[in-house]
Amino acid sequence: MRLSSLAFLAFLAACSPAAEPGAENRQEAAAGERQVAPILDRADAKDPQSYARPLEARVTHVALDLKADFAAKRIAGTATLDVQAKPDAKAIVLDSKGLEVRSVTDEGGRPLRFALGKADPNLGAPLTVELDGARRIRVAYVSAPDAEALQWLTPEQTAGKKHPFLFSQGQAILNRSWIPTQDSPGIRQTWEARIVVPGPLRAVMSGERLTPEGEPAEGGGRAFRFRMDKPVAPYLIALAAGDIAFQPLGPRTGVYAEPATIRAAAAELVDTEKMVAAAERLYGPYRWGRYDMIVLPPAFPYGGMENPTLTFLTPTFLAGDRSLVGLVAHELAHSWSGNLVTNAVWPDSWLNEGFTSYFENRIMEALYGPGRASQEAALSFADMEAAFTEIGATAPGTRLHNPDETTEGGASGIVYDKGALFLRTLERIAGRERFDAWLRAYFDRHAFQPMTSALFLADLRSNLIRGDKALESKLQLDDWVYKPGLPANAVRPDPKAFAAVDAVLDNVRGGAPAPAALWSGWTTAERLRFLNGLPRQLPQPRLAELDRALGLTGGRNAETLFAWLQLALANRYQPAIPAAERFLMSMGRRKFVAPLFETLAKQGEWGRPVAARIYAKARPTYHSVTTGTVDKTLKSGG
Ligand code: BES
Ligand code: ZN
Repeated sequence: MRLSSLAFLAFLAACSPAAEPGAENRQEAAAGERQVAPILDRADAKDPQSYARPLEARVTHVALDLKADFAAKRIAGTATLDVQAKPDAKAIVLDSKGLEVRSVTDEGGRPLRFALGKADPNLGAPLTVELDGARRIRVAYVSAPDAEALQWLTPEQTAGKKHPFLFSQGQAILNRSWIPTQDSPGIRQTWEARIVVPGPLRAVMSGERLTPEGEPAEGGGRAFRFRMDKPVAPYLIALAAGDIAFQPLGPRTGVYAEPATIRAAAAELVDTEKMVAAAERLYGPYRWGRYDMIVLPPAFPYGGMENPTLTFLTPTFLAGDRSLVGLVAHELAHSWSGNLVTNAVWPDSWLNEGFTSYFENRIMEALYGPGRASQEAALSFADMEAAFTEIGATAPGTRLHNPDETTEGGASGIVYDKGALFLRTLERIAGRERFDAWLRAYFDRHAFQPMTSALFLADLRSNLIRGDKALESKLQLDDWVYKPGLPANAVRPDPKAFAAVDAVLDNVRGGAPAPAALWSGWTTAERLRFLNGLPRQLPQPRLAELDRALGLTGGRNAETLFAWLQLALANRYQPAIPAAERFLMSMGRRKFVAPLFETLAKQGEWGRPVAARIYAKARPTYHSVTTGTVDKTLKSGG
């Protein structure tokens, strides 16, 4: 296995454009300086969600020259792709979705024949280009107005209300709707871009920002240039454009946001520089230069997205008290698990999300102490148990390596919570010192390379277990990675983490009044434990009493408000409806939006019409990721 892929690499290196003496090079960085990452030649690394055949011909570098047209909701321009191919390769296959391809040429402008294959609703269409000897090809194209990766916001959907806003979301397989390349996490590519936006706007991307203030460009626009000289999975190429301010936080950290949001964002994120330092102490150098973040308008469908050098964040984490910055620790941790060592295929997304959730918790422990970390770990354990209850304790969906996981790319809670618990269990059994040494070296050994479950297990066996039979049998590795359910050796959460709240919950279940005085001193994690620990069925007077005593319907913390609304709506608590409507109209984060509509839709005559009424108004403001899920929920009757 290993040998044949190495041999192929050597062959690829020998036929790279850099090896041709005197090869013309009009692009910014010489191809020879760029790293080329390996493609794994093994069955478990074959990506069922990409049309690419990278072992025949692959993209190594993408150069974008694009213009964003806000009126037409289209991105138009060229993508110039560096190709490495076997000498006898006739064609290269790219991924595309909804793209209008105008022409394909070699770098000298000679037309190349191309064909768009039959489109699949999920995967899009293969774009096959006849190489005819070319090793650099230029695709001229326009994206569709409904490109899934892009959300074009009207001024009304922004905080400033004056300028439009655009952002992209690549994971898992959405980038093919605005970039014609091989859209597979196992095919790493370096990239550069020039992006033209209307004059007053600023564009930022997930790579080195070469022209922070932009340059004058054609038609009164402004051009911004970017470069990523490390090979990254193409889902990590990301763009945002709008009225965007910047506030430095530390020597290599800072935050972008709309001017109206920048102060609150910077205040919430004051600990970011310390987080980067803590992460480095744990698992080695941060290899991406700067770590900046952008707080997007509320339509952003995720909590966060780990775009390299520029994490994308929802504004719903702005709680005012830094209680939700676990999100930042999480996206930062992806700079190692996910961006440095990357799942080769989405059925192994636990290698990204499970490792990251574990690492997130270690960063939280380093910054805020073991108390907060153990509470957050206990919440994760409870979420996992809830997922087991919902989908069945031994359902196929409870596996870490999940061959069915081909559309969401890691969106199910299992890969996060069970994945993190697996690593916590390894840490506990092997010992923290030994485990940390292994994990740090794992990131070094596999930096800028794709990973699979089997390769991870092989690495663990050669470098941590090293023939220790007793240790091997204690770990139950194959059960954890390949089997559904929860292995018997799983570390339980620290019972002390929520001992105080759990005692109060016992009393409340027995009829004690709402704990108003205690509540005001509780952490967000404790409040979530309390709300999620309440009986799922409560009579109206009890809901009203809790609401009044704890100020739940008027809550400003998105996580606790969500937990309360879930409980209140499931019990048809009428006073929660205006708050739910306000919340659903104020942001488009799928994790909050989809379950609330589902809960309403399950409440028959009481909830269904409310769901339909609110969704009719809110749907045009949501991202395709969010409408994709809610459309299904409401169609299926909750
Ligand atoms: N990479 C994910 C977001 C993602 C997952 C996008 C699957 C597309 C498909 C990101 O790192 C993430 O996990 N975000 C979480 C927050 C986290 C604290 C669990 C989210 O968005 O809620
Ligand atoms: Zn993540």
